[in-house]
Amino acid sequence: MDKKVFELLNDQINKEFYSAYLYLDMANFYAQKGLDGFANWYEVQAKEEQDHAMLIYHYLLNNGQKVTLGAIAQPDKTFAALMDPLKAAHEHEQYVTSLINAIYAAAIQANDYRTTQFLDWFIKEQGEEEKNSGDMITKMELFGDDAKALYLLNSELAGRVYSAPSLVLD
Ligand code: FEO
Repeated sequence: MDKKVFELLNDQINKEFYSAYLYLDMANFYAQKGLDGFANWYEVQAKEEQDHAMLIYHYLLNNGQKVTLGAIAQPDKTFAALMDPLKAAHEHEQYVTSLINAIYAAAIQANDYRTTQFLDWFIKEQGEEEKNSGDMITKMELFGDDAKALYLLNSELAGRVYSAPSLVLD
């Protein structure tokens, strides 16, 4: 595997675990506000991020690469308003999309079409992630100021159930 493609993928394992940690911190914020549905939503999101990390980890191992695991940074965002984590999550997903795109571009440059095929799932996933995080902001803008509506939104988010990723590795 091309050195740069490997290094970016190896680093992305860390970035995905950081994402999990960041979302767990958001779950923590909402749990402390008594919004268990919002907390559930971000706990599920944190699990999905761990899946993303593990998919890349296994992809590298399956391709004979020597993975190196680095320290996971402390979540560094502070939240005050209920909207704050939602906006931070959306910005974070846009950032992750840029990271995936950069790996994809490096793989194309290296003629590494196995990696571009692997990353196709992540490209699609990032589209869904950005849509979900954007929708959360819209819902909060529409309903967040009304206590009854916020209660119903919290109940809706409590229904999010974790499911394993659809990507199957060879
Ligand atoms: Fe692993 Fe939320 O992207």
